[in-house]
This record gives sequence, structure tokens and C-alpha cells, in this order.
Amino acid sequence: MADPRIAIVGATGAVGQVALQVMEERSFAAQSLRLCASPRSVGKRMRFRGQEIVVEETTAALFAECDIAFISANGAVSRELAPIAVQQGCVVIDDSSVFRMDPAVPLVVPEVNAADVEAHQGILAIPNCSTTQMVMALYPLHLANPIKRVVVDTYQSVSGTGAAAVAELNEQAAQVLKGQPAQAEQYPHQIAFNVFPHIEPFMDNGYTREEWKMLEETRKIMHAPEIAVSATCVRVPVPIAHSEAVHVEFERPMDPQEARELLAAFPGVVVTDDPQQDAYPMPINAAGHDEVFVGRIRKDASHPNGLAMWVVSDNLRKGAALNAVQIAEELVSRQALAPRQRV
Ligand code: A2P
Repeated sequence: MADPRIAIVGATGAVGQVALQVMEERSFAAQSLRLCASPRSVGKRMRFRGQEIVVEETTAALFAECDIAFISANGAVSRELAPIAVQQGCVVIDDSSVFRMDPAVPLVVPEVNAADVEAHQGILAIPNCSTTQMVMALYPLHLANPIKRVVVDTYQSVSGTGAAAVAELNEQAAQVLKGQPAQAEQYPHQIAFNVFPHIEPFMDNGYTREEWKMLEETRKIMHAPEIAVSATCVRVPVPIAHSEAVHVEFERPMDPQEARELLAAFPGVVVTDDPQQDAYPMPINAAGHDEVFVGRIRKDASHPNGLAMWVVSDNLRKGAALNAVQIAEELVSRQALAPRQRV
């Protein structure tokens, strides 16, 4: 099969720009690369492997000339454009939450459920960034000792909201340090020098949508519909990389050293766990890296079968662009691309 022709919709955004970097770093074999964004970016030039690529309008004709489209813009764009791409025979790897829980759409973290890509019907979804790094840390433990319940508190960076939120954090920090009032547009509150437990809209049950995604998506990816998850998702004034305090209850007691060994042996996970040397994962170290970093692994003193850990990862890489590119690699290596490529 010839190398796939690729489109990135949202190429100028926080995740799209990292997708370009990740494809370069991994020497992703693409026959061609088309970059799309909103109409205001059409004509802008971006660099890929030393060459300039001009940002184009996102049209049905463009999808007809591509085999895989990464869509990372917003939910409305995915809802509108993904079916158009599929109609044109182009497989969509979507970064929004629109299709994730659709039974016809594989929701994939390749280290956990790569084989699910084969069941796609045109659209595949990447999980929410906070879910992806959590399942990377849960899955190797779950294989050894089934997980019954997870309580997780997240500390999520502003790049999860997009490039405009990163700019807003920087602007607000400067405003506050100059003694000026902070202007908040991306969030309901000032984020510089602040945290708030509010990511995505609130639901009738008191959780936010972001928190509920961590329950539903974890079950779907791990094929474990019985796992109970309670999340509190918090936005923090960090540019890149999400952190999570994860408390896990297993069927049987889990020894922290066994957990360290299982995690260290799992692809894509790095254990950084030497508290006596002040060594534990932190966003400033994880940003720009592909791995999920796990530390502070200890017995949860509140439950005999409990384990506590601290999980940090770059939300733009494993949380989004890298995971999407890995799914494309799985589609290619398993020869599981669009029907157009099979006929
Ligand atoms: P643009 O840069 O022209 O606004 P972020 O998550 O960082 O906010 O980025 C969102 C990405 O989605 C950007 O690349 C943005 O382009 C792109 N985008 C927004 N609306 C559309 C649209 N209607 N069609 C295609 N891309 C879009």
C-alpha cells in the first residue's frame, strides 16, 4: 500500500502544531500533507521537514484527495467536517468529544487497545487528554490486579483549552505583576495565580462534562465497564502538561514495588519515584516529552487494597497529537485504512 495522504484540520492550533512536530520526529511516512485551519489562516505558511506548506480552506474536494484527516479544531468543526471527510473516503482521527462514546467509533490509546482501530467505520477518536494519561498508568496495573474504583483529581494546563488560553495566561501574569486588573476571556475567572475546579460545563449530577468523560472514556478504552471513577478536574496556571493525583482500589492488595515494576515495563510510561531525592514527575519536566511519567507510588492509607500515585504527561503530545499519530500508524501497519484503500 502506498504511504497515506494526510490532512491536518486545525494545523495552526495548539495541538495541530505539535502534530506537525510529532510527525517529523517519528518520520511518519506520508505521501502528501495538507494543512487546514479557519478561513482567517488560509494562505499562512507553515514548515514541515524543511518545506513550506500553505494553509488551505477545508473542503470536501481536499478530503477526497486524502486518506487520513486529523481533526483538532473544536466540537462544532468536528461535527460538521468529519462526516464530509468520511463521505469522501477519508478516515478521520478526531480530537473532539463529539464521537468518542459512539459505539461505531473506536476510542483508542494504542498501548492499551490498539486492535480496536480495526473496527472503525470511518471515524476514530482520541480520548480526552486527562483520560489518556490516566489509562496509561492504570492499564498495566489492571492487567495484574483488576481495578474496582478510581478517585482522581486533575491539575490541568491551559494549553488543553487551546493557543488562546496560553496567551491569556501569559498576558494575565504580566497584568497582575504590573498591578493591573487581569482580563479574562477564555475562562470564567482569572487563571494567572489562581486555580478553579471547573473544566467544561456542569451537569445536573454536579460533575462537569470533563469529569464525566474520565469515567465513560476509561471504561470504553480499557473494556472495563464495571470500573467506578470519580474525578475532580481543576484548571491550573501551567502552560503545558497535566498532572493527576490518582487513588486506585484493586481487587487485592497492590504492593507499591510491584506497581513500579509493572509501570516501568509498560511502553510509554516512565517511573520517576525517588521522593527522598525530591524526584517525582512535574509538568515543567514532562512538557515536550512523549512519555507518561508516574511517581509518588505508595499504599493508599485509607484502603487495604488501595494505591496512590501521581501521573504527569504533556497533554498536547500523548494527550492529543502523539496519540492521534500513533493511531494513524496502527491503521497503516494493520492495513486497516478506509474502504477506498481496500478495493
Ligand atoms: P485558526 O488558527 O485559523 O483559528 P486551538 O485549539 O489552539 O484554539 O486551535 C484551534 C484550531 O482549529 C486552529 O488551527 C483554528 O484555526 C482551527 N479552526 C477553527 N475553526 C475552524 C474551522 N471552521 N475550520 C477549520 N479549522 C478551524
